[in-house]
Formats: sequence, C-alpha cells, structure tokens
Amino acid sequence: MSLEFKRIVIAVLSLLLLTSLVIVSWVEGGKQRFAPETELVISADNQGCVNCHTESSPSIVAQWEGSRHAGLGVGCLECHRADEADVDAYRHEGHTIATIVTPNDCARCHADIAEEFGASHHASAGNILGSLDNVLGEIIEGMPAAANGCQQCHGSKVAFLHDDAGEIRRNSSGIPMFDPSTWPNTGIGRLNVDGSVGTCSACHSRHAFSTAVSRQPDNCGKCHMGPDHPQIEIYNESKHGIAFRAQIDEMALDSDSWVVGQDYTAAPTCATCHMSATRELPVTHDPGKRLTWTLRPPVSTRMEDWEAKKQDMESVCRSCHAAGFVENWYDQYDSAIELYNRKFAEPGVKIMAALKEAGAISPDPFDEHIEWVWFEVWHHEGRRARHGASMQGPDYTQWHGFYEVAKHFYFELLPEARELAEGHPEAEAAIEEALGGVDHAWLKGMDAETKAQVRAFYESRYGQKGH
Ligand code: HEC
Ligand code: HEC
Ligand code: HEC
Ligand code: HEC
Ligand code: HEC
Ligand code: HEC
Ligand code: HEC
Ligand code: HEC
Repeated sequence: MSLEFKRIVIAVLSLLLLTSLVIVSWVEGGKQRFAPETELVISADNQGCVNCHTESSPSIVAQWEGSRHAGLGVGCLECHRADEADVDAYRHEGHTIATIVTPNDCARCHADIAEEFGASHHASAGNILGSLDNVLGEIIEGMPAAANGCQQCHGSKVAFLHDDAGEIRRNSSGIPMFDPSTWPNTGIGRLNVDGSVGTCSACHSRHAFSTAVSRQPDNCGKCHMGPDHPQIEIYNESKHGIAFRAQIDEMALDSDSWVVGQDYTAAPTCATCHMSATRELPVTHDPGKRLTWTLRPPVSTRMEDWEAKKQDMESVCRSCHAAGFVENWYDQYDSAIELYNRKFAEPGVKIMAALKEAGAISPDPFDEHIEWVWFEVWHHEGRRARHGASMQGPDYTQWHGFYEVAKHFYFELLPEARELAEGHPEAEAAIEEALGGVDHAWLKGMDAETKAQVRAFYESRYGQKGH
C-alpha cells in the first residue's frame, strides 16, 4: 500500500467514524430531550438570513455560528419562523417570521423542558400586578420605574403600538412595532403576545444558548440579588462560592454531561443545587422541586409535599457531604426559620392586623410610616436572615438579617405600634398578647444569671476596664 493510499483510507475511515458519532449523538439527543417536528437541514433559506445579517448584525450571526444549534442545523428560520395567522407574524425577505422566539417556539423541539418550565414559579413571575410590591413600584414610585426595574426581572406584558384605527403599527419594512415600555425584556415570567409565558433566554443568553453560561452563578445573580433576596451575595460569601471561584477550571462547565459527584466535585453552583442532575436525579427546569420552605412571605410556610422535595435536595448535598452532616444542617436551618416565624413574623402580622382592625391605621398600604417599617422588617431584613440561613451565609443571617430584624422590631415597630394603639384598647391588648411568652421576656429585664454570664465573659476577655 502506498503512503498516499493509506492516507486516503484513514481519511475515509475517520470521516465515517465522525459521521456515525454525529448520528449517534443526534439520535441520543432525540431520545432523551427533543422530538423535532420536521427534519432539520441548513437550507438555502437560512443561508439568506445569515448572509444578510452578517452585514446588519454580525454578532448575532457569530454567536449563533458558535452554538450547538448551528452544528445541528437549527438555523434562524427554525426558531424565528411563524404562521401567517400568528399575531406577531410578518413577511421578511420572502419568509413569514416573528421577532420574539417564545417558549412555545422552543417547545417545537424541547417540549418536555418547556412544559416543566411552564409549571414553575419562574414562568408565573410576571403575575405581580396584584402584589404589595407592585403598588410600590407602579403607583408610589411610578410606571417607568417598574418597566426598567421590576419587569426586567419578573417579565413585562409584551404589547404592540397601535394606530388610531386600532391596527398594529408597522415600520417602513412592514415589521410590527413593539411598545417600547414592554420590550426589550427578558424577564423570567414575561407574558408573550402568543399567549405563552416566560423567556428561555432569561437563562440561555441568545444566540449562543450555551449551557456553560446558564450553569454560572452570575447567570442567576442578575435577578437573585439585592436587599430583599441577596442569594448571589450569600453564595459568594459561603464556602461554596469560595470553592467555586478558587477552582473554576475544575468545574467542567462546558461538559455535555454535568452530574455532580461524577463530572465535577469542586463546588456546587446555584444550578447544581436547584436544577442540575445528581447520580439519582435528572435535570429539572422547575427550581421549586427541591425546596421545603417558601421564604418569601412575611411568615414562612412549608411547601406542598416538602418531605419528598427535601430528599431531592439531600441527594445533591450527599454528592459531596455525609448524610449525618446534611441532616444536622437541615436541623440548624429549620430552627432559624421557626425562630424567625415565632418570635418576629407572627407577632408582627398580628400587631399590624390589630392596628388595622381597630382603625388606628388605614386599610391602604404604604400610607403610614409604620407600614414601611414592617415591610422592611419582613421583606428585606427577615428575608435576608432566612436566605442567609438557607445557603450558608452567616453574615447575612446575623448582621444583615436577625440583627436588623430585632433592632427594628423592638425599637421602631413596637414603639410606633404602641403609640398608634393609644385610645384603642383592643389593639393595645393585642400588642401585649403578641409579646407574651419567653421570647420577649428579656424586654422586662434580663435575669440575674444571664447578666452575670455576660459580665464574666467581658471581664475574662478584655479585663475589667474593657467595656
Ligand atoms: C436582504 C437582507 C436580509 C435578509 C435576507 C434577512 N434579513 Fe432580517 N433583517 C434585515 C435588516 C436590514 C433588518 C433590520 C435591521 C436590523 O435589525 O438589523 C432585519 C431585521 C430582522 C429581525 C428583527 C426585526 C425587528 O423586530 O426589528 C429579525 C428577527 C430578522 N431580521 C430575522 C431574519 C431571518 C430569520 C431571516 C431569514 C429568513 C432574515 N432576517 C433575512 C435584513 C435581512
Ligand atoms: C435557538 C433559537 C434561535 C435561533 C437559531 C436564532 N434566534 Fe434570533 N432570537 C431568538 C431569541 C430567543 C431571541 C430573543 C427574543 C426575545 O426574547 O426578546 C431572538 C432575537 C433575535 C433578534 C432581535 C433581538 C436583538 O437582539 O436584536 C434578531 C435580529 C434575531 N434574533 C436574528 C436571528 C438571526 C439572523 C438568526 C440566524 C443567524 C437567529 N436569530 C437565530 C432565538 C433564536
Ligand atoms: C428546530 C429544533 C430546535 C429549536 C426550535 C430549538 N432547539 Fe435548542 N436544541 C435543539 C437540538 C437538536 C439540540 C441538541 C440536543 C440537545 O442538547 O437537546 C439543542 C440544544 C439546546 C441547548 C443545549 C446547548 C448546549 O450547549 O449543549 C439549549 C440550552 C437549547 N437548545 C435551548 C433552546 C432554546 C432556549 C430554544 C428557543 C429559543 C431552542 N433551543 C430552540 C433543537 C432546537
Ligand atoms: C433584580 C431583579 C428583581 C427586581 C428589580 C424586582 N424583583 Fe421581585 N423578585 C425577584 C426575585 C429573584 C424574587 C424571588 C426571591 C426569592 O425567591 O427569594 C422576587 C420576588 C417577588 C415577589 C414574591 C413572589 C412570591 O411568590 O411570593 C413579588 C410579589 C415581587 N418580587 C414583586 C416585585 C415588584 C412589584 C418589583 C418592583 C417594585 C420587583 N419585584 C422588583 C427579582 C426582582
Ligand atoms: C432559570 C434558568 C433557566 C431557564 C429559565 C431555562 N433554562 Fe434551560 N437550562 C438551565 C440550566 C442551568 C441548564 C444546564 C443544566 C445542566 O446541564 O446541569 C439548562 C439546560 C438546558 C438544555 C440542555 C439539555 C438539558 O436538559 O440539560 C436545554 C435544551 C434547555 N435548557 C432548554 C431550555 C428551554 C427550551 C427553556 C425555556 C422553555 C429553558 N431551557 C429555560 C437553566 C434555565
Ligand atoms: C430574569 C430573572 C431571573 C433569573 C435569571 C433567575 N431567576 Fe430564579 N426567580 C426569579 C423570580 C422573579 C422568582 C420569583 C417567582 C415568584 O415566586 O413569583 C424566582 C424564583 C426562584 C426560586 C424559587 C422557586 C419556587 O418554586 O419557589 C428558585 C429556587 C430560583 N428562582 C432559582 C434560580 C436559579 C438557580 C437561577 C439560575 C440558574 C435563577 N433562579 C435565575 C427570577 C429569576
Ligand atoms: C449548596 C446548595 C445551594 C447552592 C449552591 C445555592 N442554593 Fe439556593 N437554596 C439551597 C437550599 C438548601 C435552600 C433552602 C431550601 C428549603 O427551604 O428547603 C435554598 C433556597 C433558595 C431559594 C428560595 C428562597 C425563598 O425565598 O423561598 C432561592 C430563590 C435560591 N435558593 C436561589 C439560589 C441562587 C440564585 C443561588 C446562587 C447564587 C443559590 N440558590 C445557590 C441550596 C443552594
Ligand atoms: C459539589 C460539592 C458540594 C455540594 C453538592 C454541596 N457542598 Fe457543601 N461544601 C462543599 C465544599 C467544597 C465545602 C467547603 C469545605 C471546606 O471548606 O472545608 C462545603 C462546605 C459546606 C458547609 C460549611 C461547612 C463547614 O465546615 O464550615 C456547609 C454547612 C455545607 N457545605 C452544606 C451543604 C448543603 C446543605 C448542601 C446541599 C444543599 C451542600 N453543602 C452541597 C461542597 C459541596
């Protein structure tokens, strides 16, 4: 065999091997994750989109070219194509397309994921209209504050501009014009014009749609941050965040298979605990599936079916920790939530209700100072205390959390409530009743034993003159 011939044989064999690998991964993907409605080919039609958009928007094309989709023949049209009858459809260079690609469009190939996402709290996060926070955002602050703020995380209700006759306004190329107060927006629970809810690109940034990006903690941190839900700050403070940053090169973020304890072990990210696979669990697109409490309302309540959800989260922890360690940790966490509920949240709710009932404050939200105090106690400080405990951020649990709760409960809420209750005997009685029990007994003076302990501590640590 001549060298030349050998080279050709090797080349042909490698090509065959490569093709079969592509086919195998294609079929595997098909079995597990998607069922294409029609066969996918990189068509001459897509070539048209690519050619032109390389001129008008080169980065979109470059990002798509680097995506997994491009290699599999999922082109511009496979996502942007629309039916003539769709409200958002328009003719563009010989094709009927829509600008916004919604979960309904992704569902053509990712039906199971779209269904799971659709059933999650994420998908319904756009339904904030009736909430207390929304009164604050839209009315007390003002609408553009909500459009640029709330809705960029929660999702807008996407709408078109209309002319006087009520028709959708179109630009000179016939493209329908979105109401700029509603789009651009990739809030997670966006209400789309096709009736679907949510945005996949909240986590899967277009047009790379890279899983590596979605597994990054910062991806979740766009929304999960700030004074009322500082999850990214807590994570960064925790041992987990430290381990992640120090060993990011060992995290295999680019790997197809990303099973904790198998493909990586260095640290968990948000996705690891709330969404990604363990050796026992598949990936989920409903991050509520592993939670036992909701920490969002004034008083935390147990999730439906919470025992099963706890087992799932424990499966994550046990990929890296011992079972007894995990059980004890849950014990620490649960007792922090129970303490917050019993000592501050339940009395706070009772006091505010009693003031309202007695007519000492109006039924409207946010028109009295005490309502702002109470809002911050549960919505900011109380959540920080609970969120810190849930994800191992001790400074958030203590100094940004319970400390602020205690200070403002005892030295703002309580004095103001007592003043407002004057002349309303039922409200006065309700306040004193809410403060009964051992939790608040210290208000009436610390017992001698506790005082002696504190004095002894400071004397031994700092000497007689230290305090
Ligand atoms: C002849 C050139 C040309 C071709 C072919 C073409 N486009 Fe465009 N497209 C444009 C230009 C120019 C714009 C407007 C400027 C911009 O947004 O970059 C545009 C805008 C768009 C928009 C945004 C519309 C909006 O709401 O503002 C989308 C989505 C789009 N094109 C998708 C496609 C798809 C999918 C194809 C293939 C079926 C395609 N284009 C083919 C030139 C082209
Ligand atoms: C995997 C599906 C998918 C593919 C493939 C895809 N797009 Fe998109 N495209 C989207 C999504 C999702 C959005 C975001 C719309 C939103 O939610 O606001 C979008 C938005 C756009 C926009 C408007 C937003 C902007 O940033 O300007 C343009 C223009 C666009 N795509 C063009 C293209 C072109 C050209 C191609 C082919 C090179 C392409 N798309 C391929 C899903 C896709
Ligand atoms: C025409 C079919 C089709 C459409 C439409 C489609 N996808 Fe895909 N997508 C695929 C295929 C095929 C794969 C590769 C197999 C897999 O990983 O499931 C894939 C893979 C992915 C991946 C994994 C990428 C990686 O790096 O491994 C993500 C994320 C994704 N798609 C998101 C989306 C989103 C979001 C939309 C809608 C905006 C969408 N897809 C629309 C067919 C499609
Ligand atoms: C930075 C992104 C962001 C902004 C801005 C934002 N939110 Fe949120 N909001 C979230 C996240 C994330 C949660 C869930 C936190 C958690 O689960 O701990 C949430 C929770 C809520 C909840 C509780 C939902 C429930 O199920 O109990 C309401 C209501 C709400 N937000 C309304 C609003 C309103 C109204 C505004 C504007 C005044 C706003 N949010 C601004 C990200 C944001
Ligand atoms: C809250 C963020 C988030 C949202 C919203 C989201 N995804 Fe994902 N998605 C992820 C993460 C994280 C992964 C990586 C999971 C892993 O591999 O560990 C992922 C993985 C995927 C994959 C790769 C296959 C797999 O199961 O691992 C596809 C396909 C996908 N998502 C499609 C979608 C579609 C379609 C939507 C909208 C219906 C969507 N995603 C919405 C975070 C999200
Ligand atoms: C675009 C904003 C946004 C992004 C990005 C985002 N979230 Fe959320 N998330 C929210 C909002 C808003 C809520 C509250 C929804 C509600 O209760 O109405 C929420 C709720 C949650 C919940 C509580 C779910 C439940 O059922 O109670 C978890 C857990 C969560 N997110 C985890 C994540 C993780 C993990 C990521 C990243 C992979 C992520 N989120 C990315 C906005 C976001
Ligand atoms: C080590 C695992 C782990 C990591 C990493 C992690 N979480 Fe959590 N998370 C938890 C646990 C455990 C809970 C509490 C679950 C329960 O109540 O049973 C929780 C609770 C939550 C909640 C519910 C809060 C509420 O108000 O009800 C949200 C939202 C959340 N995490 C988001 C995130 C985000 C965003 C990140 C990354 C910045 C993250 N988590 C990182 C384990 C983790
Ligand atoms: C991918 C592996 C991994 C997963 C999954 C994981 N952890 Fe960790 N965890 C670590 C590492 C690494 C450390 C840091 C250990 C050290 O610094 O000595 C840590 C530290 C901790 C600490 C602090 C321990 C100490 O001694 O100070 C607690 C508490 C903890 N994890 C609880 C959990 C819980 C609860 C879960 C599940 C919700 C979980 N972890 C999931 C890897 C993981």
